[in-house]
Amino acid sequence: ATGMITLDPGYKNTGSCESAITYLDGEQGILRYRGYSIEDLADKANFLEVSYLLVFGELPTQDQLINFENDIRKYTLIHEEMKDIIDGFPKSAHPMGILASLTSALTAFNPRPVNVSSEKEIYNAVCKTLAKFLVLATWVHRKREGYPLSYYDNTKGYVENFLHLMFAIPTEPYKENPIIVDALHKLFILHADHEQNCSTSTVRIVGSSHAGLFASISSGVSALWGPLHGGANQAVIEMLEAIKNDGGDVEKYILKAKDKDDPFRLMGFGHRVYKNFDPRARIIKKAADEVLDALGIDDPVLDIAKKLEKVALEDEYFKSRNLYPNVDFYSGIIYRALGIPSEMFTVMFAIGRLPGWIAQWIEMRSGGEPIGRPRQIYVGENLRSFVPVDKR
Ligand code: SDX
Repeated sequence: ATGMITLDPGYKNTGSCESAITYLDGEQGILRYRGYSIEDLADKANFLEVSYLLVFGELPTQDQLINFENDIRKYTLIHEEMKDIIDGFPKSAHPMGILASLTSALTAFNPRPVNVSSEKEIYNAVCKTLAKFLVLATWVHRKREGYPLSYYDNTKGYVENFLHLMFAIPTEPYKENPIIVDALHKLFILHADHEQNCSTSTVRIVGSSHAGLFASISSGVSALWGPLHGGANQAVIEMLEAIKNDGGDVEKYILKAKDKDDPFRLMGFGHRVYKNFDPRARIIKKAADEVLDALGIDDPVLDIAKKLEKVALEDEYFKSRNLYPNVDFYSGIIYRALGIPSEMFTVMFAIGRLPGWIAQWIEMRSGGEPIGRPRQIYVGENLRSFVPVDKR
């Protein structure tokens, strides 16, 4: 780890900090949470275990994990007046915009700031945030679909509750499919943290002014929404659908992506740090095959994704720029197979990234970091005299 990153003369390293949470090596395609490889964690851990690891620095013991899941259950009820807020949104509102607003509104119902010098208060704030964010994220879907807003079932696990909250309807019992539960654990783990990406840096810099945890997380949701960041997973599926509807002509879209005069980019390709395969993309691609196969789903969009990847990886333009599939390239194909609408894909990313945002916010606040204040290279006008309006 290189510790502090100095500002280069360019503009790319606009943020810098020391962190002990996630290690990335973009050249080698290495990703580790608190020293554990992403491959090991995705394969052997569950999402709450990884959430605990990211926030508290160690994998939980059996008792700690059981207590963690039970302590989250203490906070799963949402203040009924939060429904008035969600009712105020038009059906056309994008889920990420609603989620950012609801997350910020949590401050109104939980106004006491987190005392970051108290381990107990930090622990309770972590449990409360994980609990309430999950429920609010699924309420966004329920509202758009015209379903009654659902309640967390304290007899179920955290990821099982995601499915229950999203899809259970009062008129019939809901039975989670273990294949889908396993796939969701894996997907949420793969999205859980990623060093100082755009949304995490946003959470840290907003939190550095001592804005509250919910306000800081809300700003992270807004940053993640952008199509160059978390919004890419929705844009990937829309791109693959367009290619499918255009006769599956991937070469045509590769040409568009290479055309300097065309704003179109190959969504789900390229990365600011990985100049090699994104290790998460490799795992998600394999999981996509397994999940669709296990669910007996034959999705032509997966075939198009594989063909697009193959053609791009053999193309000089992409090779010379080290452009590889990233975490967003295959994730939407699994979400689709799980029955999740594409407008909710970035919300899925946010649910996964939540423990990372929380961990980074706590690290920054507990470390007593000063208020974030990126500097600039001034390239504007030199001093000049004022000209009265009638002389201009
Ligand atoms: C995430 O930072 C993180 O860690 C993010 C993330 C996380 O976990 O938090 O990993 C999640 O955001 C993944 C990225 C999801 N976004 C997309 O898939 C959108 C498509 N990708 C691109 O927009 C782009 O690759 C970025 C935004 C991801 C990275 O942009 P960079 O590093 O600033 O690259 P660049 O814009 O400087 O491009 C370098 C060259 C340019 O060509 P030239 O000017 O050299 O001729 O590569 C080209 C770009 O035009 N290029 C692409 C491309 N990505 C870069 N050309 C076509 N298609 C693309 N996708």
